[in-house]
Amino acid sequence: MRRADEFCAAYGLKVPILMAPMAGACPPALAAAVMKAGGMGGCGALLMDPETIARWAADVRAKSDGPFQMNLWVPDPPPPPPRDAAREAAVADFLANWGPRPVDLSAELSISFADQCEALIDARPTAASSIMGLFPPETVDQLRARDIRWFATVTTVTEALEAERAGADAILAQGSEAGGHRGAFKADKAEAQPIGLVSLVPTICDAVSIPVIATGGLADARGLVAALALGASAVQIGTALLRAPEAALSPAWAEGIGQARPEDTTVTRAFSGRPGRALRTDYVAASERPDAPAPLPYPLQRSATGPMRAKGRQENDLAYIQAWAGQSASLARATAAGDIVASIWAEARATLGQ
Ligand SMILES: Cc1cc2nc3c(=O)[nH]c(=O)nc-3n(C[C@H](O)[C@H](O)[C@H](O)COP(=O)(O)O)c2cc1C
Repeated sequence: MRRADEFCAAYGLKVPILMAPMAGACPPALAAAVMKAGGMGGCGALLMDPETIARWAADVRAKSDGPFQMNLWVPDPPPPPPRDAAREAAVADFLANWGPRPVDLSAELSISFADQCEALIDARPTAASSIMGLFPPETVDQLRARDIRWFATVTTVTEALEAERAGADAILAQGSEAGGHRGAFKADKAEAQPIGLVSLVPTICDAVSIPVIATGGLADARGLVAALALGASAVQIGTALLRAPEAALSPAWAEGIGQARPEDTTVTRAFSGRPGRALRTDYVAASERPDAPAPLPYPLQRSATGPMRAKGRQENDLAYIQAWAGQSASLARATAAGDIVASIWAEARATLGQ
């Protein structure tokens, strides 16, 4: 509790709960609801251009004056992934069974990370969080100059030590239970080192001297109490908020989350080319068959699945939806986000005798 109290005091929080930044699933209304309940809002800005980043921050500020984080993916070092016409054609043929055949795979390559960083810094969030690597030193300097804290997502102790050395203010320890993309710095290691939160949090806490925020599979008071006992200063929750009305998720995805046992989720590259944890939908299962073509490298596979994902949203059909979900999906409650945050904290305090 002392660690949680200190973290809350440092970041202007009433509860040590952060909304996970979830690209494509973080409307301002969801962040504002979490902020009004005393937690930290979150924005996954991966797919946002500079104007959209500025608008998101303005929308949230119009609704609440609480703290929020904005998150960017650190791009892989050059060169960009090689193009392979034969492989791309095989993937396009496969995807033609799941919606309109993809034609243009270049769309997702066009957003500039440097422009996104500039817009994020101009938006002045409480914290900027990184995933898939570390912010470059010049970005770290710019954040510091504007008094924006840096939360670095890591999946191993080695990555946590690198982040601390590079100047991170807090570590976001992402366990392998987590919904959405795994934040491993090296894409090819992401599946090889799937470390669960019970091992990851205490070993990182022993290794670093900055606060650790636990994320992955935390969805109720039991998870929060466990994370604090393991040494975390706060928790970050993603999937647990996705059934809230403010998340405005496709109903089929929200329903799928409510029904999914841990074993109904799996880590797949089939949506984007980077591994992420999703519901094992019909498409995911089909992509695991031996005769299915291997996914293209990120972000080409994301472009390739664009038409299928659009069809899934339009038709509200889970088979075509990129249905990210963490292993504790079934603990997510279909109720207002503010109530979810408030009740997790109230129950945790009662458990802790506070
Ligand atoms: C729909 C969805 C989108 C996500 N997008 C991002 C993202 O853009 N950036 C990021 O750092 N993490 C992203 N994540 C991962 C979360 O930050 C966090 O690690 C994860 O939600 C924690 O696990 P949980 O879902 O079991 O709570 C996403 C997760 C989900 C479920």
